[in-house]
Amino acid sequence: MKNSYPSEVYMNGKWLPAAEATVSVFDRGFMFGDGIYEVTPFYGGKPFLLQEHLDRMSYCLKEIDLEFEKKDLKKLIFEAVDRAGLAQNDCAVYLQVTRGKAPRTHHFPQQVEPTFLMYAFAVQLEGFEDRKLTIKLSPDIRWQRCDIKSISLMANTMLNSEAIQKGHFENVLFRNNRITEGSHSSIFFIKDQKVYTHPEGPEILSGITRRFVIELCTELEIEVIEEAVSLEELSAMEGIFLTGTTTQILHVTSVFQNDRELYNSSEAGAITKKLQEAFRKKTRGL
Ligand code: PDD
Repeated sequence: MKNSYPSEVYMNGKWLPAAEATVSVFDRGFMFGDGIYEVTPFYGGKPFLLQEHLDRMSYCLKEIDLEFEKKDLKKLIFEAVDRAGLAQNDCAVYLQVTRGKAPRTHHFPQQVEPTFLMYAFAVQLEGFEDRKLTIKLSPDIRWQRCDIKSISLMANTMLNSEAIQKGHFENVLFRNNRITEGSHSSIFFIKDQKVYTHPEGPEILSGITRRFVIELCTELEIEVIEEAVSLEELSAMEGIFLTGTTTQILHVTSVFQNDRELYNSSEAGAITKKLQEAFRKKTRGL
């Protein structure tokens, strides 16, 4: 599915044609990347883990000391899907809050009206079980509050562009020799019938899909260990998959370091397949 602009967005209390939705050059989102965002999925027009996404948004707002209260936010989110003509479709809603327009200062200005942007867009959520992808090892050059879903994504976009240029889908990021997550996804490993993933904390985003997959593992009686995998352990893994709102659960076939293949697994193993099937059922309400 090709990326394109939505035809309409909701901004600061109004539905507007996208071309008419503009912000001040002094908006702190534009000047400092001072804001947070959220991406929440809809399967066949039905929200999936919406409350969890909204809770994470509240957490991030609190962490950056940004007061933002939107009455009837859930209703507006549904309206965004409806107005985009996606009420029966697979889609996602993008939400962004920046601190708003203020004369440029490093410290947070007081009594500023936040800028709120929201729109729905179609996404390809079918067929994730059949996708095969390769990823690339990259040093995790991001800041030390990756638990905040900040709109400042310079490091993530630099890293992912490098991966895409080399023909990969994503990066496996590592910090102090320990694998953290992807540039826009969470990462899981399988070894000896156990599933490993980096623990929550400032080094990773608390992925909503990540948490849901951990719950699925519990339901399926698959042991999960929230511990980071080191670079040395990587080649001994028996399975790797990525998770995320639009990523869902994707089997990784290869991991490359520079041009050297460190890990290969052409077909998804039994645990990945089980989780994918359970995930498909839950997201489709089956
Ligand atoms: N990315 N880690 C990072 C760094 C991410 O950017 C994302 C999601 C995830 C997965 O989180 P979740 O399961 O809550 O989607 C993990 C979103 C979708 C994005 O930036 O578009």
